[in-house]
Amino acid sequence: MDKLEIIGKPPGMPGTGLVGTLPIRGAKNAALPIQCAALLASDLTRLRHVPKLTDVSTMNRLLREVGCAVEVIADTDGRTVEIDPRGVAQGSLEAPYEMVKTMRASVTVMGPLLARYGRARVSLPGGCAIGARPIDQHLKGLQALGAKVTLEHGYVDLEAKRLTGGRFLFDKVTVGGTQNVMMAATLAKGHTTLENVAREPEVEELALFLNKMGAQISGAGTPTIEIDGVDELRGIDHAILPDRIEAGTFAVAAAISRGDVLLEHAPVDHMHAIIDTLVAAGAECRVEAGGLRVIGPERLRPFDVVTRPHPGFPTDMQAQIMVLAAMADGASVIRETIFENRFMHVPELNRLGANIVVNGNTAVVRGPTKFSGTTVMATDLRASASLVLAGLVAEGTTEVRRVYHIDRGYEAIEARLCPLGAQMSRYHGGGA
Ligand code: EPZ
Repeated sequence: MDKLEIIGKPPGMPGTGLVGTLPIRGAKNAALPIQCAALLASDLTRLRHVPKLTDVSTMNRLLREVGCAVEVIADTDGRTVEIDPRGVAQGSLEAPYEMVKTMRASVTVMGPLLARYGRARVSLPGGCAIGARPIDQHLKGLQALGAKVTLEHGYVDLEAKRLTGGRFLFDKVTVGGTQNVMMAATLAKGHTTLENVAREPEVEELALFLNKMGAQISGAGTPTIEIDGVDELRGIDHAILPDRIEAGTFAVAAAISRGDVLLEHAPVDHMHAIIDTLVAAGAECRVEAGGLRVIGPERLRPFDVVTRPHPGFPTDMQAQIMVLAAMADGASVIRETIFENRFMHVPELNRLGANIVVNGNTAVVRGPTKFSGTTVMATDLRASASLVLAGLVAEGTTEVRRVYHIDRGYEAIEARLCPLGAQMSRYHGGGA
């Protein structure tokens, strides 16, 4: 298993701040559901600005598994993917356990397969490091459109000759549930109203993509989405929007290192809660023509954060913002309201010298911290990003193990940060 070695530069040492321009890549959480949406089309879809991440490759493998022809176009630096679903009708229409256990987002093929081919069989996702993460809302939503749902032997079987439009109120705001049911409703007979939906930019981006294919969706980005079903959707060419979470992660890197970084193409309109928190901590955030410029201050101020569905503060930035809090002069309070077990990074950050106390879903972070490098273990994608951030400003060397977690959501992180002044190297087969 790979490991990352980071030679830290505590802020204040001469020439330590990260400086330069960093282009932000396409968003993982926009690319994955859009790859699934290509199943709805009657012909080929071309996706550009696709991030080179292991999760994207896993989704390509799953699409091939259900019968798609998927080609990653080499001469575009591997950032263009062509998906042709014309072979699916003869395929298994099944997302097997081996795939779903590797990547939960595999369940997002459920809605498109059911709507387009009348059947889908998907392994039930087991638990996950950050929480139980059931899919009950996905299934209830599809049942509201007339799907017959059977759970057996760890799999869910869904059937419907043709789905019928209806009204569904989500009991809980869910990104994946909204995306699955919205996609299914595009080919249902009649009108569908979805209430208490997720308003994440990735939901809006998916609706934009579906409408370009010929769907009739309105209200994405608001609590209620309206869909008029159509008979057919066609393949299109689409560029994936930049990743707000990747941009937020690197913004924290600039702020804690007293750096000055231009995050090229950063989707500022999707980052208000993140930017507000950085500014509250004392960082300077300037919207410039090319993107978002983040300048780290001499001293950071403490702040409070509560994670919430969009437009609230994103849970996918919680671990990273905890490192910012650890560098601040005073106590910050961070409350996690989306996932019940998303503080796995805390013991590892405390091993690096932080002073974080967790009580239920609330963490009290006392700073300023003088991080000191040691060996730490990544437990999930965003937790691993927080360990890399702490390692950047730690005294001495930090070894982050199990970096396969970070490769799921950050493309070649060391190759992106080293040109800005970071000292990071990757070692293959670096032990468990
Ligand atoms: C998406 O996951 C993202 N993943 C997650 O990002 C992100 O943390 C999450 O949304 C919240 O913003 C992708 O887009 C691929 P949810 P998703 O359904 O769709 C509960 C990352 O780091 N729930 O909005 O799985 C659930 O348990 C990843 O990039 C139900 O109870 O999240 C959770 O507590 C991690 N029943 C809450 O809702 C359901 O049927 C929100 O989950 C569905 C969800």
